[in-house]
Amino acid sequence: MPLLSLVCVISGAALFLSRFLFIRRPKQLPLPPGPPGAPLVGNLFQAPKRNPWEKYAEWSKKYGPLMTLKNGNAITIVVTSYDIVFDLLAKNNHVFSSRPQPIVIERIGLGMTTSFLPDGDKWRHHRSLRRAVLSPAMAKKYRGVQSLESLQLLNELRSSADFSQCLRRSAVSLFLVIAYGKRLPVETPEVLEMEDTVAHIGAVSEACFRGTEILAEFFPILKLLPGNGAWKKKADRISSWYTELYLKRFREALKLPSWNWAKQYDTTKNAKGMAEIELAYCIGSVYEAALTPYELVRLVFLCAVFHPEETAKMQRQIDEVVGRNRLPTWEDADKLPLVSAFYREALRWRPWTPLATPRATTEEITYKGYRIPKDATVIINQWALDRDPAIFGDPEAFRPQRWLDNPDLPHVRYGYGHRGCPGQHVGKDYMFINMARLFWAYNVGYAYEGGKKVDLDFEAMMDPRNEISFFNQVPDFRASLTIRDAQSERLVEQEWLTAEKDEQKLLAEVEVLDFTK
Ligand code: HEM
Repeated sequence: MPLLSLVCVISGAALFLSRFLFIRRPKQLPLPPGPPGAPLVGNLFQAPKRNPWEKYAEWSKKYGPLMTLKNGNAITIVVTSYDIVFDLLAKNNHVFSSRPQPIVIERIGLGMTTSFLPDGDKWRHHRSLRRAVLSPAMAKKYRGVQSLESLQLLNELRSSADFSQCLRRSAVSLFLVIAYGKRLPVETPEVLEMEDTVAHIGAVSEACFRGTEILAEFFPILKLLPGNGAWKKKADRISSWYTELYLKRFREALKLPSWNWAKQYDTTKNAKGMAEIELAYCIGSVYEAALTPYELVRLVFLCAVFHPEETAKMQRQIDEVVGRNRLPTWEDADKLPLVSAFYREALRWRPWTPLATPRATTEEITYKGYRIPKDATVIINQWALDRDPAIFGDPEAFRPQRWLDNPDLPHVRYGYGHRGCPGQHVGKDYMFINMARLFWAYNVGYAYEGGKKVDLDFEAMMDPRNEISFFNQVPDFRASLTIRDAQSERLVEQEWLTAEKDEQKLLAEVEVLDFTK
């Protein structure tokens, strides 16, 4: 009997029994409306594999900004209103701070990967440890290391034909230094493997909002049947890879002379009694997040290629404030509002997480006559919200100035509430220093081959790199980075040559935290 028929028979029997044998429950509020689904499987097969946010946007026009989808018995609530995000989700941290637990992620994460943990004591404990190393004050202390990595990046781009590789090395190296006390002057295969596993996790996380790849996700009984070998094997392989990597890095970091997160966690009172492997995972899941800023600079480059006038405006501001005789520094940030506006617009125009990052409810909550049950998955259709003409007027236009004209424009680029992005202060610093310096030193535009422009397929660039993914990673693309003038070239080379490259010395400046707290 095909697997799906078996699911139908078993689920049908369960439904019959629950309807007729059990005592009737008191009348409940209804779930938010949603598209009618097929018997038993619900909407499981209705959303397209490619860019499901487009279909959700279409459905929400009909069913409303609070919409229910059913995958088998699992409930997903899709929010397509910034008012609901801020009025309901962000105000009720006690309900909306958990994560769904797709079976593959559960198997990979071993119940220790902070970003996937359900709300509870363990996640809160990890969060409190993380807070100590990712606060705004700590982010400032990492600026010396951030600056060094950006100088290597600028210098490498003078001769490299692969800007993505240079960006990836720079972002990963930054996090290796602060987490484990060691730079990555040259990219190693470990980074590419990390990128592959993150892409795999992105693909399997798809099960949080639309899952047809692994049916056992929604019909747990299938876990017991043959046919589950492949995903389990792959999950176990990834999980062993992570465990080995995180433990190795953690142990090596403890032996280094200067401060790093591993040493901080190892000696913090709050972490006493935690198993070594859990501490290693607690740091490791942040190391993995280093790939986010790398992806975002690629996205900024894509916007620069498509929108040369806006790029030129940003460069004019950089030149006016900084001049051409020195590189931008942190002190310039307040006088360069177009840099962060360009970044914010890039994330709006082509959202990096089009369905935000899924959350799960830990208890039932009611809202405007509807019931959102416990254990529901909650997603925000960020793609649709960022294209809402009622909020953005001309959503298809790439116009960084809109963020300066109206600084109160809504966004969820770092998530919301207690579970919002903990790395945002370090991430914002990374984006500022790299964008300001890159556009100070380089012009970014279309690549040319044999004197002919290499066109980019706009539609393809709007689609994610992989067919199914939870992240909207920009596909590989070609662009030209040309140094702006001889003075830039001289300065870039000179700054890199004279930079302090000893990470132990740079980290010595960070060490001011009291390890006993
Ligand atoms: C540079 C731009 C970045 C953006 C736009 C970004 C965005 C996000 C978003 C949207 C989430 C989901 C939050 C939610 O569920 O509401 C998230 C989670 C997370 N981010 Fe970031 N992030 C960035 C950089 C970083 C950096 C640099 C780090 C590490 C230092 C980091 C570490 C994390 C972690 C650990 C989580 C999971 C939090 C949890 O579930 O407890 N992020 N990020």
